[in-house]
Amino acid sequence: MVGYPETALRIWTTWRRLAHLNGLSVSTAPDRRVFGRDLVVQGQALRPKPPRLSWPVPTRNGVTLRVLLHPGQTPAPYFAAASAMEHAWRVHGVRVTSPRRGQVVIHVTARDPLTGDVPSASTPAQALLSVDVGRIEDGEPWIIDLRRVPHWLITGATQSGKSSLLAALVRGLAPQPVGLVGIDCKGGMELGLFGGRLSALAIDRAQAVSLLSGVVEEIRARMQLCRETGKRSVWELANDQRPMPLVVIVDELAELYLTDGSRQSKDEAEQCGTLLLRVAQLGAALGVHLIVAGQRVGSDIGPRVTALRAQLGGRVAHRAHDEASAEMTLGDVNPDAVVTAQNITEDEQGVAVVATGGRWVRARSRLVSAAEAAEITRISAPPNSLLKNLEPAAFKKGGAAA
Ligand SMILES: Nc1ncnc2c1ncn2[C@@H]1O[C@H](COP(=O)(O)OP(=O)(O)O)[C@@H](O)[C@H]1O
Ligand SMILES: [Mg+2]
Repeated sequence: MVGYPETALRIWTTWRRLAHLNGLSVSTAPDRRVFGRDLVVQGQALRPKPPRLSWPVPTRNGVTLRVLLHPGQTPAPYFAAASAMEHAWRVHGVRVTSPRRGQVVIHVTARDPLTGDVPSASTPAQALLSVDVGRIEDGEPWIIDLRRVPHWLITGATQSGKSSLLAALVRGLAPQPVGLVGIDCKGGMELGLFGGRLSALAIDRAQAVSLLSGVVEEIRARMQLCRETGKRSVWELANDQRPMPLVVIVDELAELYLTDGSRQSKDEAEQCGTLLLRVAQLGAALGVHLIVAGQRVGSDIGPRVTALRAQLGGRVAHRAHDEASAEMTLGDVNPDAVVTAQNITEDEQGVAVVATGGRWVRARSRLVSAAEAAEITRISAPPNSLLKNLEPAAFKKGGAAA
């Protein structure tokens, strides 16, 4: 009621100047008339003509504007001017897109919609392997769809919301016919909450090696199945033939690579690196998905970490300790998102930049309480029809047998 007219007025009154200062206006040559032989009458002095702006259309949390480009203009200077618009209009964010030729659409977000806790989802029926984990900046649900992007990397400083996001994922996947296995080498404190729903949980590195070897066995078995039936992926198989999807969740990646210098620990770290990479490389077509969370993912952590990162197409960057960490997560897929990730503050726990290939958005996960986790574990048991290759191993449930 108050914000809209105020913002609309501000946009209208500043547009001419803003357009001029950011090189969005074009200058029309002044009129010239020649009378007689040499009397030249010049019209008005050079006047920048701002591009035509539509009336601001109110949206759920801001306004959108349409701009008609002058002939000869491209949308590029508008993309570059987005931050100038934010300041001139005193709004939270401005995003510029060009959905049609000759037209630019400016999306203005008045206030940060990601403050405050994300309310619990009413959870509409979701497609297999697709989970509503929170809310994105425009108020829409934040859907992580493993069918579309099979593997994910989640990074952030301690206490930035990584484990909470994993919890939201597990919560969404729990009711689905999906196998879940966890690796949580910080003593299993986070994924242990969901122990009852997981088909297996590794809480130290020896268990992780054994669990990952089991997963690679499973992948081999699925490959053979595809080969025998002449299919290129498990998704081409008939419903009753298709093995159940399997999601491998790893919290605190760096713990898998820590060594105390001993021969054995080096070997284990090496094995973990190789096995994780294999799962990522081979898993996607075979219904095996990998979700990795860690503070940073550089070559300094351990062997083959950068190769692993390259396989993880989906990226979620929470607040980072330093610039390099955000750069490592987003730099190779979406360099222009790095700045936004760096601007996440300490009290914005759960807020993250989500990038998949060419696109990125800001989003906030939904917090899953310990009580809720206990409830999930109580009502859903792991599916028992699969994971032949995982069952006999010595890592069952919190490593009781280890
Ligand atoms: N989406 C969220 N909304 C609100 N608070 C959150 C959210 N995610 C995390 N938090 C808060 O941040 C704390 C740390 O989150 P956590 O996921 O354990 O961080 P990390 O695993 O990165 O160390 C949580 O205890 C919770 O209080
Ligand atoms: Mg954590």
